[in-house]
Amino acid sequence: MWALIAVTTVLLLTAAYDVVQRRNSILRNFPVIGHLRFLLEGVGPELRQYIVTSNDEERPFSRDQREWVYGSAHGTGGYIGFGTDNELEQSSNYVIVKHAAFPLPRPAADQDAVPCAKVLGAARGRARAFRPESVVNVSAMSFGSLSAHAIEAIDRGCAAAGCLHNVGEGGLSPYHCHGADLVYQIGTGYFGCRTPDGRFDLGRLVDLVAANPIRAIEIKLSQGAKPGLGGVLSAPKVSPEIAAIRGIPAGVACVSPSAHTAFSDVDSMLDVVEAIAAATGLPVGIKSAVGEQAFWNDLVTAMADGSRGVDFVTVDGGEGGSGAAPMTFCDHVALPFKLAVSRVYRTFAEAGLQDRVVFIGSGKCGLPDTAALALVLGCDLVNVAREAMMAIGCIQAQRCQSGHCPAGVATQSAWLSRGLDPDLKAHDLESYLRALRHELLQLGHACGVEHPALITPEQVEILDGHFATATVADLFGYPPGWGLPPLADRAALHDLMARDLDRQPAGTR
Ligand SMILES: Cc1cc2nc3c(=O)[nH]c(=O)nc-3n(C[C@H](O)[C@H](O)[C@H](O)COP(=O)(O)O)c2cc1C
Ligand code: SF4
Repeated sequence: MWALIAVTTVLLLTAAYDVVQRRNSILRNFPVIGHLRFLLEGVGPELRQYIVTSNDEERPFSRDQREWVYGSAHGTGGYIGFGTDNELEQSSNYVIVKHAAFPLPRPAADQDAVPCAKVLGAARGRARAFRPESVVNVSAMSFGSLSAHAIEAIDRGCAAAGCLHNVGEGGLSPYHCHGADLVYQIGTGYFGCRTPDGRFDLGRLVDLVAANPIRAIEIKLSQGAKPGLGGVLSAPKVSPEIAAIRGIPAGVACVSPSAHTAFSDVDSMLDVVEAIAAATGLPVGIKSAVGEQAFWNDLVTAMADGSRGVDFVTVDGGEGGSGAAPMTFCDHVALPFKLAVSRVYRTFAEAGLQDRVVFIGSGKCGLPDTAALALVLGCDLVNVAREAMMAIGCIQAQRCQSGHCPAGVATQSAWLSRGLDPDLKAHDLESYLRALRHELLQLGHACGVEHPALITPEQVEILDGHFATATVADLFGYPPGWGLPPLADRAALHDLMARDLDRQPAGTR
C-alpha cells in the first residue's frame, strides 16, 4: 500500500514538474511518459552495440548528424571521444576536406562572424543591395506549416545570430516580427500579396516591404521535396488565424497552384523580377529545384545582355524537406543537391555570369561538412530548414503533415505548441547557427584560408567506397577559379575577416 502511494506521489510530482518546466518540449507535452524517450536515447549507444541501427543509418538525418545539431544547440556539441565510428574507406559519397600543412590560427571560441562573400543585389545595382551578415540563414518555412511558437523562436534566434529569416510561402504573420531581417517569399498562392481572386498584387507587396524589415524577395518556382506541385497545408493545420492571414477557408486543405499566374516563361518572369526590384529597391531572386535544363539555359541567355536578371538563385536539392509532400515527389523528382547546384553553377559560369548572381544552397546543408561542400561548389550562402527545426526541438518523428508534432514545431495544436518555449528555443537556434558558422570557419582555417568560401574544389575529395577518390573539381568538372567568389569580393572578404583575426587574444593565434 505504502509502496503504491510512494510511486503515485513520485509520478504525480514528476508530471507536475514536467508540465511546469520550459526547457524540454517533449516532457512538457508528454509528462512522465516523455522520460522513456530520453531513457532509451540515453542507453542508445549501448543498445546499438547489439541491435538496432548504427549512428549513420537513420534518415533523412543520421543519429550523428542530429546529435551534432542538438549538441550545438545546447552548447555541448562538437567533440567526440575515441575517434570516428565511420567506415571511411568503405563509404561512398564521403567528403574529405584536405587540410593545409600550415593552417591558419584556430578561430577564437566565440568567433563565428562569417559574412557572405558577395553583396546581394550589387551586380544589378539594386538600391537596397546589402552584404548578408551570415553565410548560414534560415530557409523558407511558413506559419501554418510550423506553429506560432516555432516561428517566433526561429525569428528571435535569427535576430540574435544575425541571420536572415525566410518567411515561407504562407505570408507574413505577427510571429515573424521579433527582430530578424526577413526574406519575403512569393509562392504561387501569393499569400500576403494577392488580389481577392488570388493573383499577384505588386501594390500590396510594396506596402508589406515598407512596413516590415524585409531585405530581399524570393520568388518560389519549386521546392526539392515536391517540384512541379504547389505548396500544401493539410486541413488540420488550417486554423482560423492562418486562414485569415492567407485569405482562405479554415479547416480545409490549402493547395496552391503548381505554376505562377504572374508569368509563364523566363521572359515574363524576368519582367516581374525587374518590376518588383524597381518598386521595392530590394534584391529579387528565385528558388527552384533542378529538373529540365532548358529553363537554366534560357535564364542565362536572357540575362546575358545585362538589362534584366535575378539577384540570387536558391537551388533546393531533391532531398529537401517539406511540411507535406507526395512520397514519389520526395523520392524521385528533381536532382539531388550536389548535382543540382553544380549544374546551375556551370550554366552561369560557362556564360561568365557566375559573379553576377548570389547562389544559395539548401538540401541538408546545415552541417559543417555539407555546408562547406555547398560553398566549395559555388554557393555563397546556405539555407537551413529541418536542421533549424531540430535545433528548436524536432526529434525527426516525421509526422509534420499530421498536425500532431510531439515537439510543438510543426503543429497548430495549442497544447502541443505550448510545449515549445520561444525564448529558450530561440537561444538554442542561435547557439546552433553560431556553432555551424564557427565550425565552417575552423574548416577554412584548417585549409589555410580565412573564409570557408575560399576553400577550393581541389581541396575537397569525395571517396567512392572502393578506394577511389576524386577531387570536387574533377568530379564536377570545375576548372580553376570556379566555385570561388569574384576577385574583388575576395579582397573585401580578406579585409572583413582580417578584422576578426585581429580581435583574437594573442595566446590563441
Ligand atoms: C516544415 C517545412 C516547411 C517548408 N515550407 C517551405 C515553404 O513555405 N517554401 C519553400 O520554398 N520551401 C519550404 N520548405 C523547404 C525548405 O525551405 C528547404 O528548402 C528544404 O527543406 C531543404 O532544406 P533542409 O534540408 O535544410 O531542410 C519547407 C520545409 C519544411 C521541412
Ligand atoms: S518532431 Fe516530427 S512532426 Fe515534429 S517537426 Fe520534427 S519531424 Fe515533424
